[in-house]
Amino acid sequence: MTTLYEGAFAKLNLTLDVLGKRDDGYHDLKSVMQTVSIRDDIEIDIGTGKPWCLKCDKEGIPTDERNLAWKAAKVYCDVMGKNPDGIEIRITKRIPSEAGMGGGSADAAAVLRALNRHYGDPLSIMALAELGAQIGSDVPFCVVCGTCMCEGRGEQLRRLPDMPDCIIVVCKPEFSVSTPELYRKIDEVAIANRPDHQAMESALLAGDLEKVAHNLCNVFDPVVTSDHLELNYIKSLFHQYGAVGYQMTGSGSACFAIVSEFEVAAVICNMLKANYPNVYICKPV
Ligand code: C5P
Repeated sequence: MTTLYEGAFAKLNLTLDVLGKRDDGYHDLKSVMQTVSIRDDIEIDIGTGKPWCLKCDKEGIPTDERNLAWKAAKVYCDVMGKNPDGIEIRITKRIPSEAGMGGGSADAAAVLRALNRHYGDPLSIMALAELGAQIGSDVPFCVVCGTCMCEGRGEQLRRLPDMPDCIIVVCKPEFSVSTPELYRKIDEVAIANRPDHQAMESALLAGDLEKVAHNLCNVFDPVVTSDHLELNYIKSLFHQYGAVGYQMTGSGSACFAIVSEFEVAAVICNMLKANYPNVYICKPV
């Protein structure tokens, strides 16, 4: 029996624009995504001699076919002509669920990378990302990681210069948002503010953290905030204690703030902890 180990890293959306509804019911997006150092750990046993199984240390996470990590193992085995029996996947969960941080997608991507490495890297990282699109919209980016422009459903990736080094505070409120419902809602509202992708790209190219922070823009943020005013409270704390920029990530409900010094992050974190148990300090990776 062999055991594989792989890190599954969370993502944040620095920008997120919804361009329109497609014939397949999905939406075309344009988003700059960033990997951050909040991480699940994936262990995979191969050759257990038993039927496949999946375990997760956190309650409430499905451990059957609905788990994206399992779907990833199945898709990889199908494509490579392998039998998924004898695979045991164990997930140590740290990425908050229903946060807009791609937790399930990160686990799926880690499974794809680990299995591909085990079999001698028959698929390139871009081919693996393409395979990831069959599993979920965020999986291709989670395979590649770093800083990328993501388009289409999320499967068209272009690498961008690394995000400048900084500290990021993430706060996950208790409430959750249904992603399909949010996409339905956004079809009905007029989007007032859209990201300026050219400005974001040149900020990244220049390594200018302040410009990156000022160009954060997520079209879902005002839609979710209008239903959950506590996001304004979190953002006001970010603002009050000197964050350079802040917004909600993906379809929420986590919000993040970019700060330039660890001391500032620690103060924000302490202030939030009084009301929010799920506060994290991380870095771009
Ligand atoms: O692909 P994923 O499972 O992350 O998407 C969840 C849901 O979000 C989809 O079922 C769809 O309703 C919506 N979605 C969308 N357009 C996208 C991504 C997601 O409409 N590009």
